[in-house]
Amino acid sequence: PRIYVPGDSGALALGAEKVAIAIEKELADRGIEAKIVRNGSRGAYFLEPMVEVATEKGRVAYGPVQPSEVKSLFDSGFLTGGHHNRWLGAPDKIPFLARQTRLTFARCGVINPLSLDHYKAHGGLKGLQNAVAMAPAEIVKQVTESGLRGRGGAGFPTGIKWKTVLDTTADKKYIVCNADEGDSATFADRMIMEGDPFVLIEGMAIGGIATGATKGFVYIRSEYPHAVAMMQKAVEAARKAGLLGLNVLGSPNAFDMEIRVGAGAYVCGEETSLLNSLEGKRGVVRAKPPLPAIQGLFGKPTVINNVISLASVPVIMDKGAAFYKDFGMGRSRGTIPIQIAGNVRYGGLFEAAFGMTLGEIVDDIGGGTATGRPVKAVQVGGPLGAYFPRSLFDTPFDYEAFAAKDGLIGHAGITVFDDSADMLKQARFAMEFCAIESCGKCTPCRIGSTRGVETIDKIARGIEPERQIELVTDLCNTMKFGSLCALGGFTPYPVMSAINHFRDDFKPAPVAEAAE
Ligand code: NAI
Ligand code: SF4
Repeated sequence: PRIYVPGDSGALALGAEKVAIAIEKELADRGIEAKIVRNGSRGAYFLEPMVEVATEKGRVAYGPVQPSEVKSLFDSGFLTGGHHNRWLGAPDKIPFLARQTRLTFARCGVINPLSLDHYKAHGGLKGLQNAVAMAPAEIVKQVTESGLRGRGGAGFPTGIKWKTVLDTTADKKYIVCNADEGDSATFADRMIMEGDPFVLIEGMAIGGIATGATKGFVYIRSEYPHAVAMMQKAVEAARKAGLLGLNVLGSPNAFDMEIRVGAGAYVCGEETSLLNSLEGKRGVVRAKPPLPAIQGLFGKPTVINNVISLASVPVIMDKGAAFYKDFGMGRSRGTIPIQIAGNVRYGGLFEAAFGMTLGEIVDDIGGGTATGRPVKAVQVGGPLGAYFPRSLFDTPFDYEAFAAKDGLIGHAGITVFDDSADMLKQARFAMEFCAIESCGKCTPCRIGSTRGVETIDKIARGIEPERQIELVTDLCNTMKFGSLCALGGFTPYPVMSAINHFRDDFKPAPVAEAAE
């Protein structure tokens, strides 16, 4: 028998390693020979550690499994899918997973992440095989037609970015994968790197062939040691198998890649400071233009894409632009891995076509709050995203629809808050976060964020609150339009949404409390 125990860091944080050790011990005690595969996570974190066993009738899942329950699992005939109070049945039938449309995450949590055979058996490499037989411009056209937009947050059309690099002549071009996933509530990049690293490698190789870039770098945040280790092993395996190197899959195309580790600055997720960091310089934002697509890494034309953008390319090149484009709504095509976190009952990764409403995501899929109290606010798009009240829960998950409500999808992380949240404190937190993470290059962000904290503190103390709100609003406008990058430019989203939608939290505190 074959047993699957996730090696994904989210599952490990919930005790997967101890469960794996307990299973090994139980197997040894009972004299049973079985293979334990360390798969990635399927993303239903409320069920992790989720253990699966391959039976004659298919895979059967159990979860969340505690190490102390492993003995009783074996007593219940776990190796043949026997019943136990942690029994979940076929993993694909678990409602949270069954309701998803898994295109980018099709293999994540299913396969052995380091087995190229598993990867191929589950549809891997077909996109790259198609790409090596095509002209670069044809690949770019296919990616453009698929409607894929940058999943890092800005939603810029991936095909157009690639075309800019393809059309720029240079002796050397690069592909840089932004894996500095710094947003709160986000873990999609990490899950892919830990659960299906070859899909990212395949996507980067396709990007290389499409744009004429021969070298790729994956810039991974230092907080992701498991992802770093997994990607390093996967790159080595891909090189040995001829997926990377001078002749990608036997074609005349050369493409190789390396893994680089960040040093822990949020702003290094911004593309130009990431490039500075990759070049060994301090992670300070560069002015644009020039766009990285024209003058990027070491001054050469560079594609910078988020992990999920690149990992979505193989399925497009395999099944075609029309297939991918068929999912979604408006100008938001394909699927998006929504990461549901915070105070929520069913937290995890939910890949779905664009278009579900925020309410469906939070109430139906997420099951409301973990505390059981009413949902007060949902922050969408990381620490720089807007807070949405229940009255906006009919907003569909779509780039334009969120923008129309003064919000953003960003990297699709959503953080749920119950009615005990104090939105003034959240607004203050946004300004404080900006002050701490500011690279210092421009004044609205460097100075504005600190003044913002002070002004919100005055509101909390009841010092002319209406006047302070006017000042914060004015300051937010300056930051929004005067900042060089999204850190200073987007901090107004959480601040102003908190003020506009949760005004009661900005009313002066009763005198006794204010004096405290
Ligand atoms: P942006 O709108 O300036 O640029 C988007 C991308 O398109 C960039 O790569 C840019 O170089 C490229 N681009 C623009 N015009 C182009 C052209 N004509 N040809 C080729 N490429 C072109 O947005 P920015 O500042 O890169 O990103 C902001 C977003 O980052 C925000 O929406 C935010 O949600 C997101 N974000 C994501 C985080 C994460 O952890 N994933 C963390 C913080 C922010
Ligand atoms: Fe640096 Fe902030 Fe200006 Fe961005 S907005 S360049 S982080 S100072």
